[in-house]
Amino acid sequence: MPLRTNERLLIGQSPDETARLAADVVVEALSTSRQPQSIALAGGSTPKLLYSTLAKRPYSERIPWRQVRWFWADERAVPPDHPDSNYRMAVESLLAPLVVPADHIYRMATEGGQEARPPDSAAAAYEQAIRGIVPSGPAGIPVFDLILLGVGPDGHTASLFPGSAALSESRRLVVPNYAPSQNAWRMTMTYPLLKAARNILFFVTGSAKAEIMARILVDNDPTLPVSAVRDAPGRITWVLDAEAARLVAPSRPE
Ligand code: 6PG
Repeated sequence: MPLRTNERLLIGQSPDETARLAADVVVEALSTSRQPQSIALAGGSTPKLLYSTLAKRPYSERIPWRQVRWFWADERAVPPDHPDSNYRMAVESLLAPLVVPADHIYRMATEGGQEARPPDSAAAAYEQAIRGIVPSGPAGIPVFDLILLGVGPDGHTASLFPGSAALSESRRLVVPNYAPSQNAWRMTMTYPLLKAARNILFFVTGSAKAEIMARILVDNDPTLPVSAVRDAPGRITWVLDAEAARLVAPSRPE
């Protein structure tokens, strides 16, 4: 399995162990960074267990969470109170329990609705918000301390879907993006911003992700949107549960 030198794979044998492995990676990434720290959160359903784990002891006491600046890697084109909102899920499971101040939370403004393309102005405003908070590296791109990402069964990450226009975006850091498979608009960070992060954590669980994880980590399939993120120079950690890792690593000897 061709992991790169800056990559590591951690496998949990239970949902709680897997969430704790990922929470330890989050704490490790933020314990070695300067103030103010910045995180971009993943959406979807998988991260919910990680977020609720971080919101409880001992993790809630390990980092000055209220000083962290919180962003999203992507968002659906729905209002912030919509059941599908990545913002709503993270606020309910993590940011509200940690009592993070509202002015440290930067939501992607995608209220238009699935049919409506989020305005370019909203994407540009989000990029400016990032540039105003997150220090840039030598390439002039903001360097997040940590970006959390998930992986879809089709190999998408953030809202970089197969066949979508954002895959070829090399200048803007945040764009509206139509997801053909979802028949819906999204807003997403693009490769230049994702790949600039100091730490990237992929948190992937469930048997439905076993095939795609094998295509990523065993076949090294370059056609998958997520594969391009693996070229990032920062530290990349894959945290999988045993089900998602079934085709990637031999199960532990009994
Ligand atoms: C989103 C996510 C997306 C997600 C994958 C996996 O907005 O849906 O950002 O990239 O991480 O689709 O989603 P699940 O965790 O629900 O499987």
